[in-house]
Amino acid sequence: MALSRSARRTSRWLALATAVASAATLAAGPATASAPPASPGAPGVGDPYFPELGNGGFDALHYDLGVSYDPDSGLLEGRTTIKAKATKNLSAFDLDLQKLRVESVKVNGEKAAFTRSGDELTVTPAAHLRKGQRFSVSVAYAGIPEALGGPIIFGSPYGWMKTKDGVFVACEPNAASTWFPSSDHPGDKATYDIRIDAPKGLTGISNGRLVSSHEKGGRSYSHWRETKPMATYLATATIGKFDVRTGTTPGGTPIYVATDPTLPTGNVDVYGITAEATDYWSKVFGKYPFEETGAIVDDMPQAGFSLEVQSKPVYSAVRDETTIVHELAHQWFGDSVSVKNWQNIWLNEGFASYAQWLWDEHKGTRSAHDAFRKQYAAIPADDAFWKIKVGDPQRDTMFSRAVYKRGAMTLQALRERIGDKAFFKLLPAWTAAHRYGNAETSQFIALAEKISGQQLDDLFQTWLYTDTRPALPGK
Ligand code: ARG
Ligand code: ZN
Repeated sequence: MALSRSARRTSRWLALATAVASAATLAAGPATASAPPASPGAPGVGDPYFPELGNGGFDALHYDLGVSYDPDSGLLEGRTTIKAKATKNLSAFDLDLQKLRVESVKVNGEKAAFTRSGDELTVTPAAHLRKGQRFSVSVAYAGIPEALGGPIIFGSPYGWMKTKDGVFVACEPNAASTWFPSSDHPGDKATYDIRIDAPKGLTGISNGRLVSSHEKGGRSYSHWRETKPMATYLATATIGKFDVRTGTTPGGTPIYVATDPTLPTGNVDVYGITAEATDYWSKVFGKYPFEETGAIVDDMPQAGFSLEVQSKPVYSAVRDETTIVHELAHQWFGDSVSVKNWQNIWLNEGFASYAQWLWDEHKGTRSAHDAFRKQYAAIPADDAFWKIKVGDPQRDTMFSRAVYKRGAMTLQALRERIGDKAFFKLLPAWTAAHRYGNAETSQFIALAEKISGQQLDDLFQTWLYTDTRPALPGK
């Protein structure tokens, strides 16, 4: 879904469904003299870090994911139907899919030819697709998804990870396509229906709100719906034994918190902190962008991270308050306003890390001013930390500490330069300007300059794009 016209499109889809069926037939003939001939869509959207992720030639609007999982064997049987719109005349197009076996592909309900090459699934529909035409592609597939990464990239494995009682699913940046065929890039956001089928006694948890759930014939079924545009990496289908607590935050947002009952909860009140942070961030960053907030607290020791899964972050263990407020800040920075490409990752991690300092300031523990100086002082000028240009951190270091902490420092330096008034106007203005869409660093700089009335490129140049330690502000 290209940027912000999404909501309208989804409803228009229903109205157009019938028209599409007949348009498909019309498009079957050879291209007319005036129309450019149909050609295959590009295999990727050209992300500088992941050139093959996403696909050219169409815009994904809605995913319907059906996932049937057997925790004993690890077998996933899936069916994905994507409603999409062709952005050029297409003779064929790609989806991203890593491993797994494809059983059949249909386009507009008709059997389509397909081939596999690396992580690309190339679909050749029986009839060409016309630019602007809406179509559906349905893929039936099966296999045992494999987690990605390992110790070399991003510090720990990630993706579809088998737990003691089910599966933990956290896919940033590129593991969504290990469990469903997709346009696996944040630049192509879409809405979702997710149906999980698991053995009886287990709970399947996903994004958005629970539409229905029931048990039948030894299986447990749940149907989730995310009505706001979502990046593929933020989709989950986490399955296991969970205690579920639901309610409404004091500010009025529905909340769903699932906790693995075998975990020692210690003294962390995940439900309470989630409710409080959702409400507090709504005041600082603007209206909460999604229909529900929450948490999925699972037991996945091999995953050393948590993820800001849209509407309910996943935690691989019971995490502390500062992690929870970080993941919830991502609902604005990363989930509602998503990166245009992965180079801009500091727009997610720098902001969510800065939110941790804001939380301490809010709680009266420590000001962001002091947090910044303490962090700065702790890292000597010759430390490799300062070598990372957080505005373009490179693929394998995109989740390095510098992206988080120097990113947060950049925001504090900005705040000290433009003053609290402009700074706290800028944050909600940013989330409003790109709500449900995508954005990049140059747009943030432009908005900061507009709101403050100051010229700021020197500040951002120094903090985001140099490989040395910047001087502290005010010196
Ligand atoms: N966005 C996550 C966070 O900051 C980190 C994800 C790291 N990804 C990974 N594959 N380890 O909370
Ligand atoms: Zn983060």
